[in-house]
Amino acid sequence: MKIAIANQKGGTGKTTVCITFEHYLRSKNLISLNIDFDIQLSWYNSWLSATTEGEEQETVVSPADLNKSKSILQQIKDYPGIVLFDLAGSIANNNLSHVLHECDLILCPFQYEAKSFASTLTFLTLLEQMHVQASIVTIPNMVQSNVSYGIKEQVQAEFKKYATIAPEIKHWVDMQRINYTNINKRVIENTTPTFDFISENFLLNIK
Ligand SMILES: Nc1ncnc2c1ncn2[C@@H]1O[C@H](COP(=O)(O)OP(=O)(O)O)[C@@H](O)[C@H]1O
Ligand SMILES: [Mg+2]
Repeated sequence: MKIAIANQKGGTGKTTVCITFEHYLRSKNLISLNIDFDIQLSWYNSWLSATTEGEEQETVVSPADLNKSKSILQQIKDYPGIVLFDLAGSIANNNLSHVLHECDLILCPFQYEAKSFASTLTFLTLLEQMHVQASIVTIPNMVQSNVSYGIKEQVQAEFKKYATIAPEIKHWVDMQRINYTNINKRVIENTTPTFDFISENFLLNIK
């Protein structure tokens, strides 16, 4: 099963979801193959900086060149388990859209604010126009408990036309600059309802 964490909007929490979702799957004994297609390689570097120098360790996150996505996808075509892709960038990039076409599930973090709404809605519309086969799940991220978001209803009404909306991930200080060394109990508590929802509804046949 191939899962992209994608949104053309930057800073919505894609890499944060990659790190925490991979950690969640691991806690359920689901070891995913993790491919960082973002040119910034934040996911890969987060893993790399948490590894001990000189020690032999299994590779958890692999850096990958989006320009070589076709041959990479060909290599993992028959991979039996879950594959996660961190997929930043514009949908106009053919290599990126090619990856999206190969996915079974697209997770799309966003914020309840005007720019994120507009950009994410464009992204969802383009996915529909591309006729991607994947199920699409939007994840409200960085939701502040003490803020009432005037835009929330409108966002939900629009996104529902294209995607499922997962339970929200709260804006918590512990989530800031998350990396492989600081996934604590609060981070797990903050993300587990979202990932349980995704797991129960979209990963049904995965062992
Ligand atoms: N739920 C959250 N609460 C607080 N900070 C968050 C949360 N999610 C993401 N962040 C922070 O927001 C910034 C952008 O997130 P990141 O995952 O790097 O976005 P993207 O990969 O989409 O560009 C990072 O500094 C990250 O630590
Ligand atoms: Mg990122």
